[in-house]
Amino acid sequence: MADTWRPAEPDIETIRRIARDPMKALADLEIPACVFRGAYPVSDCDGLIDRFIQKGLIDDPKTWDPETGRKRIDIGSSLAQKGNNQDAFFAHAAGTHELYETLFDGFVDPVETLYDGLSALASDKKVVTAYEPDGRRYGPAIFRIHYEGHRYAPHIDHVTLREKRFDFAVTRFTHQFAGVLVMRNTTTDATATQSILHRCPWTPAIHPHLRGETFYEYAAAQNIESVRVDMNPGDLYFFNTGAIHEVPALEGDDARVVLAVFVGYSEDDDEVFVWS
Ligand SMILES: [Fe+2]
Repeated sequence: MADTWRPAEPDIETIRRIARDPMKALADLEIPACVFRGAYPVSDCDGLIDRFIQKGLIDDPKTWDPETGRKRIDIGSSLAQKGNNQDAFFAHAAGTHELYETLFDGFVDPVETLYDGLSALASDKKVVTAYEPDGRRYGPAIFRIHYEGHRYAPHIDHVTLREKRFDFAVTRFTHQFAGVLVMRNTTTDATATQSILHRCPWTPAIHPHLRGETFYEYAAAQNIESVRVDMNPGDLYFFNTGAIHEVPALEGDDARVVLAVFVGYSEDDDEVFVWS
């Protein structure tokens, strides 16, 4: 049984052979992830990162000083970080839309690559950047640049279950997924583990184990399956963030760069919302 819970990959044809409705399969945790290998050109990953450095949007990893440098830089608007002030959040998101209008000129648009992958998974629904009834738009996607081998302990991401943001339109969705396009790993000579996914939806009973860091004991006692997702630059994957997941500490000197989104999905909703 433990060997059967594996990501569906490497392309949409194979994903659909494994799961006729990939979005529902992710929601039900029938599969841990949908992976598109080689979705984005590696040369454009490198070219865009160089552009970010030239434009001063991120620190150059070559000259970055661990003592004084920022450990993480975002290019984009984060609801989790800025959502406490709605007006400021939507003003920031408008700025991100403006920045992204020209930021990728001359390269394949990585935000489009990410939305295209999601649209292939949710072919019966309309994939759109999340918006409020009055038309205000959320950030379309966010670049996350990590400069140190950090770790995210087992957790979930969910605007309703975890963040309790009932005053945002994205709260209407039952399920929340993440989409991640890997732009650069911390080491170039090996495939790095991007995340560890556990076949374990969040429930109030799990909460004390996350807070007390006893989740591993709980998972072992319950025989909960888990899987490591290894990703190379240019690979894109989607997984259910309402289930417990974690990011192991990565070793290596380079910054790790990803383009990430959250996804709102309900089986009976015609729209799929994307935000960051
Ligand atoms: Fe997460």
